[in-house]
Amino acid sequence: MSKRVAVLTGGGDCPGINPVIRAIVRKALKEKYEVVGIKNGWKGLIEKSTLALNLDSVSGILPKGGTILGTSRTNPYKNEGDVEKVKANFKSLKIDALIAIGGEDTLGVADKLYKEGLNIVGVPKTIDNDISATDRTFGFDTAVNIATEAIDRIHTTAESHHRVMVIEVMGRHSGWIGLEAGIAGGADAILIPEFPIDIKEVCALIKRRHNRGKTFSIIVVAEGAKFKKEGAEVLQEEKLDAFGHVRLGGIGQILGNEIEKRTGFETRVTVLGHIQRGGTPTAFDRVLGTRYGVKAMELVMEGEFGQMASLQGDKIVSVSLEKAVGTLKTVPGELYDIAKIFFG
Ligand code: F6P
Repeated sequence: MSKRVAVLTGGGDCPGINPVIRAIVRKALKEKYEVVGIKNGWKGLIEKSTLALNLDSVSGILPKGGTILGTSRTNPYKNEGDVEKVKANFKSLKIDALIAIGGEDTLGVADKLYKEGLNIVGVPKTIDNDISATDRTFGFDTAVNIATEAIDRIHTTAESHHRVMVIEVMGRHSGWIGLEAGIAGGADAILIPEFPIDIKEVCALIKRRHNRGKTFSIIVVAEGAKFKKEGAEVLQEEKLDAFGHVRLGGIGQILGNEIEKRTGFETRVTVLGHIQRGGTPTAFDRVLGTRYGVKAMELVMEGEFGQMASLQGDKIVSVSLEKAVGTLKTVPGELYDIAKIFFG
């Protein structure tokens, strides 16, 4: 009887998930494994909601954004009895191994379940690029490219109208998208969660820039950035999700109002939001996703459970899930210092 591998995708979707699923299915079928898709992340394993995966189901999905399996932010450790349901369904679905594609929350659950005896491996997915023990998560490259294109477009209208343009990008606890899109788009200031905003400094640099003849400025701010004095994130909603996260958003508008008030320069705000997460993955993310999918299947075949596929330099290696979810990977000071050279 052939072995059965299951796949699930949890947390926020991101471009590149479908290439991972396709690679897992293609590699698995070659190795005579049967593949079952679990719908909507951990929710599907609690509710026993599945989808058979075969050559037909993954045909044509390589360039498609989102996830054909659906996703959710369900945490089985949140409600009593759900972990037991996950374990029971793992057994009744005759799953020999599960590949969990997710960010820190999904992989955190994967690590706990592995330690409780389930055969699980992980694939690091998030546009935020904040998972430790890997150089890159897939989806990040696409998000950076989308944000960079947006900054380029905003640049021309900023210049025509002589305005300060504030662009709010995603990034809850880490500023990777803001940092890389900001550098690539030539932003005049990049404000990210790791380095609190000094509003006086930001306004001073805009004024200095305008004094040297520039009549517009581009300010990139991550949704999780905070002001130095107040020290709190700006929330859209205080309600917590199953992993204890609040919904962020709104810092761009507050910052824009403050800049206009303090400098007198006309200011506009654009929130990029979920545009950064939608649509077709870049070639880089398609290739990275494909390599991760193949590696995850190899880990399954070798019985290397509790491990995650990881990019280190040019190589795809494996690291323990525990190491990957232990601490969030944030932007280091030396990288931010490079961005700062171009401020103002
Ligand atoms: O985790 C990825 C992410 O896109 C974060 O950057 C953002 O804070 C969050 O998801 C938004 O989540 P949702 O789509 O549930 O609003």
